[in-house]
Amino acid sequence: MTKAEAQAEIESLSEKVRYHNHLYYQESKSEISDFDFDQLLKKLIDLETQFPEFLKEDSPSQRVGGAITKSFNTVEHEYPMLSLGNTYSVEEIQDFDGRVKKNLGHDDYEYFCELKFDGVALSVKYENGVLKQAVTRGDGVRGDDITTNAKTIRTLPLRLTKGEFPERFEVRGEVFMPNKVFENLNKEREEIGEERLANPRNTASGTLKMQDSAIVSKRKLDCYLYALYGVDVDTHETAIKSLESWGFNVSPTYRKCQTIQQVIDYINEWEHKRHDLPLETDGIVIKVNSLAHQSELGFTAKSPRWAISYKYKAESAITKLKDITYQVGRTGAITPVAELEPVLLAGTTVKRASLHNANEIARLGLRIGDMVSVEKGGEIIPKVTAVDLASRSADSVEFNYTETCPECGTHLIRKEGEAVHYCPNVTGCPPQILGRIEHFIHRKSMNIESLGPETLRGLLDRELINNYADLYHLTFEQLNGLAFEVYSEKKGESSTRSLREKSAKNIIASIEKSKENPFESVLFSLGIRYVGKTVAEKLAQHFKSIDALMAASQEQLVDAHEIGERIAASVIEFFSEEKNVALVESLKTSGLNFELVEKESTQVSDALDGKTFVISGVFTKYGRDELKAIIQDHGGKIVSSISGKLDFLVAGDKMGPSKLEKATKLGTKIISEEEFEEMIK
Ligand code: IVH
Repeated sequence: MTKAEAQAEIESLSEKVRYHNHLYYQESKSEISDFDFDQLLKKLIDLETQFPEFLKEDSPSQRVGGAITKSFNTVEHEYPMLSLGNTYSVEEIQDFDGRVKKNLGHDDYEYFCELKFDGVALSVKYENGVLKQAVTRGDGVRGDDITTNAKTIRTLPLRLTKGEFPERFEVRGEVFMPNKVFENLNKEREEIGEERLANPRNTASGTLKMQDSAIVSKRKLDCYLYALYGVDVDTHETAIKSLESWGFNVSPTYRKCQTIQQVIDYINEWEHKRHDLPLETDGIVIKVNSLAHQSELGFTAKSPRWAISYKYKAESAITKLKDITYQVGRTGAITPVAELEPVLLAGTTVKRASLHNANEIARLGLRIGDMVSVEKGGEIIPKVTAVDLASRSADSVEFNYTETCPECGTHLIRKEGEAVHYCPNVTGCPPQILGRIEHFIHRKSMNIESLGPETLRGLLDRELINNYADLYHLTFEQLNGLAFEVYSEKKGESSTRSLREKSAKNIIASIEKSKENPFESVLFSLGIRYVGKTVAEKLAQHFKSIDALMAASQEQLVDAHEIGERIAASVIEFFSEEKNVALVESLKTSGLNFELVEKESTQVSDALDGKTFVISGVFTKYGRDELKAIIQDHGGKIVSSISGKLDFLVAGDKMGPSKLEKATKLGTKIISEEEFEEMIK
């Protein structure tokens, strides 16, 4: 390919990716499959790597990150990033209005109200419609240049395509992690035994300062814009409308208010409604609308006189601490839990609150029987924030944190530098045993989910299994008709259940099938702390077999791509336990895969390159699996359901009418076995 051709191809691919990105993120539509989109992007990245001279700063490839920033440059802000004065009551809001009126000398002004988004402030410069530089607030005068990371925020335009915008301008807004993204991230962390992240704001802030922009991209940050600088407009409202018209992401929650009473109404209206928004908010921001009025009012040393924030009180309630109990996690981590007299808080009844660890209990000075404040702040789970010492009864006694595991009685340990206590009885502590087996059979691990949680508990109670390796020794005879106790929390009582023949057969079959899982899945399923799915894949790729992994030193582990000290230490610790080695040996004997099967490409042509297929019904010449393999061998992709993105439905005999109807409705191409054969001729 000549340079000129490469440049033209890069431009054409960039245009396509931009178009599909726009459809997907702005209009929630898609015209091509995810696979086709990934192929376009991959082609673009490959060409840009080959011809770096044509890599443009607004290339859509920048969304997926990849660049590493060792240390961020400090940049001086052209317009200082000030903070806002806070108010907490209607009186203070009225006082603010009084000051505005007095300083302007009249009452002919308007306000513009917005929600106060709880994230990280960001200032972004655009030149000729192209994102040039993104800088954090820092100390307000200087901040960090985090342009590479900011470019991964999908809603922040890399290049403007709409409206008439000036040559140079600066926008400001709040970067945040949507609550859903935050919850998913925490779920993933819990799955691999990592501590939960405290709240979306700190997570967003930490993410923006990460060195690897590819990880930032995966964290799915978002951004709402709320200010425009360097543009001559009359009102803040015009600034906001301009931002909207140029394609920036502006939260539609704003409102122009003519009087301070309307501002107060806005505050009241959003007090509860804000919890339905996809992000955390902690108040509202009130801005004088006219820019002429703003400059007349000016600034104090720290903040503008034309704007103020109203902070909602973190919703709190007072109740009695009935007890402190402990939960034991899959990794043996102990979490203390406050058992509370039920109390209404932000619309829900709260009975329990997280206490994090022993230090937190000591910091609060908690005692059983105390009256405590419970709050729902940025964190989704309520927490105990204070103790009312005045109401403490004279006979209350100091609280002593448990020294032994509440489940198995083993003496707890606390590792140096860690706040959390652990139960070291890894192989004998019931919730740890159960948790590890649950992880092992999980859909994302060995996928033996025909074994439900109640049956699993039953098998443990009846001592038919004691660890995940024992699953492979279960027989149909043992399971058929097996009776076990099931406890119903709702009824508060136990009843007896017995396994039917069909369930027993299913369980045995899915255990047998699980032996087909590849090495990387088996490795993930072992439940080694900090070894999540991606890490397991990396380790499997690097070491190729469990024997090599078990023999690896700390240094050799760290040498593997993207494996850090903490993961390496955890792997070493896991295999230094004789019991774990015995588990692996037992699984090996049962026939699980402990060696990497390098996927050899069986591709014979690219006739179906990137095309998606659903196959349905019965075929005359091929079995279904055979047909699937043929599609893949020609570069096609099998998907499980019919959607607007699907390219072909290969229809055999006895295909279900609902599938046919759906495909017809969506305009999917429906092809016969013979037509399919034509495609790969
Ligand atoms: S305007 C002169 N509008 O609150 C200050 N700020 O304490 C102009 N914030 O650093 C800021 N939502 O990070 C403004 N709708 C909003 C906001 C907002 C959140 C944050 C921002 C700022 C801090 C000020």
